[in-house]
Amino acid sequence: MAARIDMSKIWLLMFGPVIVLVISIIGLFAMQTSVPVYQETFRPQYHFSPPEKWMNDPNGLVYFDGEYHLFYQYHPYDVIWGPMHWGHAVSTDLVHWENLPIALEPDDNGTIFSGSAVIDVNNTAGFGANAMVAIYSYNTQTQGVAYSTDRGRTWTKYAGNPIMPALATPDFRDPKVFWHEESGQWVMVIAAGREAQFYTSPNLLDWTFASSFAAGHIVATWEVPDIFPLDIDGETKWVLLVSVGAYAPAGGSGIQYFIGDFDGSTFTNDNPTGTTLWLDYGADNYAGTTWNDEPNGERIYIGWLNNWTYANNIPTSTWRGATTLPRTLRLVNTAEGVRLAQAPVAALESLRTPLGTWDDLTISSTEQVIDGVAGRTLEIIAEIEPSSAERWGLKVQRSDETGTRIVYSPARSSLLIGRGDTTSAGPIYSFSPAFGAPLELNGDTLRLHIFVDESSVEVFAQDGLVTLTAQTFVEPPANGLSFFADNGDITVKHLEVYALDSIWSAPE
Ligand code: FRU
Repeated sequence: MAARIDMSKIWLLMFGPVIVLVISIIGLFAMQTSVPVYQETFRPQYHFSPPEKWMNDPNGLVYFDGEYHLFYQYHPYDVIWGPMHWGHAVSTDLVHWENLPIALEPDDNGTIFSGSAVIDVNNTAGFGANAMVAIYSYNTQTQGVAYSTDRGRTWTKYAGNPIMPALATPDFRDPKVFWHEESGQWVMVIAAGREAQFYTSPNLLDWTFASSFAAGHIVATWEVPDIFPLDIDGETKWVLLVSVGAYAPAGGSGIQYFIGDFDGSTFTNDNPTGTTLWLDYGADNYAGTTWNDEPNGERIYIGWLNNWTYANNIPTSTWRGATTLPRTLRLVNTAEGVRLAQAPVAALESLRTPLGTWDDLTISSTEQVIDGVAGRTLEIIAEIEPSSAERWGLKVQRSDETGTRIVYSPARSSLLIGRGDTTSAGPIYSFSPAFGAPLELNGDTLRLHIFVDESSVEVFAQDGLVTLTAQTFVEPPANGLSFFADNGDITVKHLEVYALDSIWSAPE
């Protein structure tokens, strides 16, 4: 009997090698294009950003039972703004973050906009003692409540939502709620058009209008207000933060603040109505608020490191959006009056590896590179003697071709950031290339504390009295540091540089 020819074997012999080759090529290609999470180009290494997709405002900042909670405006299905959810992460030190599942999802009342969270220690709302209660806006500009009795891990929406109807103004949102000890009640500050409104409540569910406040920058919609006490010279002052959607000093969205008094129902401004104080002169610090119940009595702030003008266009890949560094706030006396100052939280020092210190460096050229400094994640502390050089300062994320400049201009009495507005993919739509903060040195040294993290630069000048926060899409491998003085020279009295570790664990 003639042997049967097994056609399947012949096919395999003929095409087997071709199939193996094709599979190998696909595998190689996939390996090259799928970069591990938190290792993509431009991915912040020690700032919070979600594992994937879009984030905007930080929300519901509250400390409870050993954890700092960071909820945030999250669109889990795309890298542009869309139907809002609350994403969730926790930290025990404000530096390392653990990503948790989505906390709040849209429901029949709408999608979940910004808001705050409190710990209801005395069970005023009836959800249980120590329930974590979120008070947030729906996109319909009504307000809702949700609660968790398992440390924020699972959430139940209040059956009586919405607890506050929309107003006639199209913008009524972003409630910040806190327990006001002196008057023994809950207080809410909420944005309403171009003013902030205050409401009070015994139980987080029934709210009574108390007062409204408007001053300063009122040429754009107010959003994401916050109010909190800070002591200065043995006196308690109240600081009101308000995010404004447009026409901030660096263009687009930014944050103004007011200093005054608050008695549980009314805020009184210490400054004339026309005075506008800005929290940050950089383009990328928006919708920031502070933690409720911080255990060490500190007032800690975090913002969205972005600007609505171009937020949907920034050239990141699998994710879009990050937070600023967490910053400790304090009040200081200045010649102009009491002002807010910011400092990166001290726990960030745990990420440091020293790269060197230098003293009395004379810079008398248009560029002097600091040898031995290379890093995409750097902390730089510099003290520079005032100089009459035309422009002077330093360049981070430096290569021969590119970099981000931090410039002091004596003629303009300002500290500026100059950043590239183009990547190899083309110009970044609406991205402003330069902006600055007013800063008179009056013979003082320029004291800079700078954080560089892959696609951002945060500058704290004069002990945090002036801050400039900016996204900077300088492509790798640019990672150097240099100083410059145009038409003159400068003395860098002291320089200290650290490489900062990534907070995201190394891949398996
Ligand atoms: C601020 C903001 C808030 C709003 C949220 C929507 O950036 O516009 O007013 O609640 O973002 O995502």
